[in-house]
Amino acid sequence: MPIQWFPGHMNVTKKAIIERIKDTDVVIELLDARLPGSSANPMLEQLTGHRLKLKVLNKQDLADATQTEAWLAWYNAQPNTRAIALDAGETAPAQRLIKACRELAPHRGGMAKPLRVMICGIPNVGKSTLMNTLVGRKAAKTGDEAGVTRVEQRINLASDFYLFDTPGMLWPKITVDQSGYHLAASGAVGRNAYEDEDVSLELLKSLRVPYAAQLAARFKLDDVAAIPTTDEEVLLSEVGRKRGAVMSGGRINIAKAAEIVLHDFRAGLIGRITLETPEQFAKWWAEGQAKEAEREAAKLARKQKKHGSRKPADADADVDDDEEEDESDEG
Ligand code: G4P
Repeated sequence: MPIQWFPGHMNVTKKAIIERIKDTDVVIELLDARLPGSSANPMLEQLTGHRLKLKVLNKQDLADATQTEAWLAWYNAQPNTRAIALDAGETAPAQRLIKACRELAPHRGGMAKPLRVMICGIPNVGKSTLMNTLVGRKAAKTGDEAGVTRVEQRINLASDFYLFDTPGMLWPKITVDQSGYHLAASGAVGRNAYEDEDVSLELLKSLRVPYAAQLAARFKLDDVAAIPTTDEEVLLSEVGRKRGAVMSGGRINIAKAAEIVLHDFRAGLIGRITLETPEQFAKWWAEGQAKEAEREAAKLARKQKKHGSRKPADADADVDDDEEEDESDEG
């Protein structure tokens, strides 16, 4: 079942970004290097338009190094965009960040024209960890916890370099089903939005071809050559059996097996893994957009049929009303 979630402080964060973007030179988007496409917020793309962008692929220590290179090349080939990869273990990422931003915006600098940079990212992508490293002390989380109302904090990385933080933000409508699963597998989505079993099965489906050897090694699976063609449900049972998730009567505890797969993936215990290539993601994205356009067209056709005998202006007003209903349904 595709995953949907409650987007939390989305509207407050959205307003804060719209307000700040007017005076922003560079937008840093922190991405999860294991799922760069899926962890990029499509809403942010709309909000930031043609601004200069720095894509930071974080958690590179957990991602497949070859794939990270491919993603960096993909982003670096895009106009007004640069990309770097980081991880929490890096002790001094500030210099690389500052350098990349300065290269993007050489027209800014000096006290009269400080470089103004905004950093955004989905929850759990590692933004607080990075901010803490940048400021060299424990910085408070910017507003993505219940009851935290502060939506922005500024730190000065140099006398002419201001970094504005924003709260972690997800978006309300996922048009790419695979992204929902990848985000859930990475831990970006709240626990209530998905079933471990569904997500672990999708994860095994993604891993069994490119990472068969890693699966075999981690879970002591016997026949590595067979893994790419083994049904994901069989793989999950096998993981359960090998790891002792067995109930009385010898039945496999599938819930426990699913938990083990997700835990081991999140902790990097299966190996360094990237769940999507740029080409794969571009294809999924195009398919998702086409499906979304079809859905919108069908919705409009239904409205037009329903309001066929009424004046077009009235029918339009009703379509807008229904859009709002749809948005609130997703919460
Ligand atoms: P957020 O502010 O974007 O929500 O994310 P946060 O920094 O809280 O990081 C989320 C989790 O990701 C934390 O783990 C953090 O340690 C881990 N993390 C952040 N950056 C990296 C990285 O580059 N590599 C790896 N391997 N992990 C990273 P946690 O288990 O939720 O908490 P903790 O107890 O480890 O801090």
